[in-house]
Amino acid sequence: MVENTLTIQELEAAYLARYDLGPGYPQVPVADYVQSLYMDDTIEDLSLRFAPFWTPEKQAQVDEDLDLAVRRFLRVHVGVGGPVRHTFSGSIALERVLSAALREARKQHEFERLNVVTTTPCIDIMRLFLEERADVRPVFVRSNRGGVLGALDCDALVDRIANLKRQEPRNPIAVLITSPENPTGGCWSDADLLAVAGACADTHAVLLVDHAFAVAGVHDSTRLCRIWDLEELPCEWVAIWDTGKTFGLNEDKLGFIVCNGSAISHAVDEALAIVQFGVARRQRMFFAELLRRATYYGHVEDLRDVCRANLATAMELAPQLVSAAPQAGSLLLLDLKDLDLGDEDARGRLLDAGVGVVAGNVFFHDDWRPRHLIRVAMARESAYFADGIGRLLQVLGAPGR
Ligand SMILES: Cc1ncc(COP(=O)(O)O)c(C=O)c1O
Repeated sequence: MVENTLTIQELEAAYLARYDLGPGYPQVPVADYVQSLYMDDTIEDLSLRFAPFWTPEKQAQVDEDLDLAVRRFLRVHVGVGGPVRHTFSGSIALERVLSAALREARKQHEFERLNVVTTTPCIDIMRLFLEERADVRPVFVRSNRGGVLGALDCDALVDRIANLKRQEPRNPIAVLITSPENPTGGCWSDADLLAVAGACADTHAVLLVDHAFAVAGVHDSTRLCRIWDLEELPCEWVAIWDTGKTFGLNEDKLGFIVCNGSAISHAVDEALAIVQFGVARRQRMFFAELLRRATYYGHVEDLRDVCRANLATAMELAPQLVSAAPQAGSLLLLDLKDLDLGDEDARGRLLDAGVGVVAGNVFFHDDWRPRHLIRVAMARESAYFADGIGRLLQVLGAPGR
């Protein structure tokens, strides 16, 4: 039987629901400057040219333009890391980075397995990618600090890293964290990131940070600490970002990787080189121009305003279901505890009635598996979002405002 994964639930919402609040990809009207880029036949023309018109210099220029555009958009200083690597999507970036960490680990003497310390809840592709590899063990640290569901627990993470090294001194470690976290919106502060980097340095672990939601959601993205903002970290690190949570373009998306440290950078390049052959020239040119324009037009702020307005709508229409407003990101957990209804039942009923959501339990990966949460995406056109939440309340029989 196929596991009922996040991806399957998102696809069902996208294909079957009149009100699709499932996938985290934005579904908001596409700005004119993006529409015109889709119509721009210069990119089409250049993407179909071959040598001798297409020279090695032009080939390199496409990558340089993309590197510059993504650095400007994300505010990654030119001095940080080598070139920003690109690949087909965030999932592929994550998968290749895990593969790179494993390549590095296998070089170590008497390697038995790689322990990958990560958080629960988090997106299930992390666990699913790890489980595909026989010589990798996922180790989950609960984000439940002080009994608050979703509260990231830096002390528990740092302790687990140190304990693992003590218990299994020969086995290498990788640490994989997400900020903002999906689905809770929890963020690691600069002090947290420094502490985790310190624990990684002490145990020779590589630090992998998924920043997919760094500029997508209700938060002020200029205040979120990203790993590339911190200077001279003591460990090797890799950061991932993808365009999908920030630009909803019906699966037109790219993934990016920023690496710091010569060994892991080399391993990432080796892992990426396995995937034939590279991202289409058309897409590299398109996204370089898209990111450039989006920086000038303030796309991140527009998306933030939509998410904030929709969060306010959800809190107004369904105050009894919103137990905590997310600190960051574009996803919202609704709490069904008072309705006495499980998440899978609620998802099934909602889907039958044309509302697509995700059942919360897919984000939990150890014995702690709450079943009273559903996830909705806030990056939606506002009237559509309000109608969707209204329908959701009706179907679940939840008291309205
Ligand atoms: C935190 C995080 N990282 C990576 C991904 C995968 O990104 P992509 O859709 O570009 O494959 C997702 C998808 O939801 C995500 O939530």
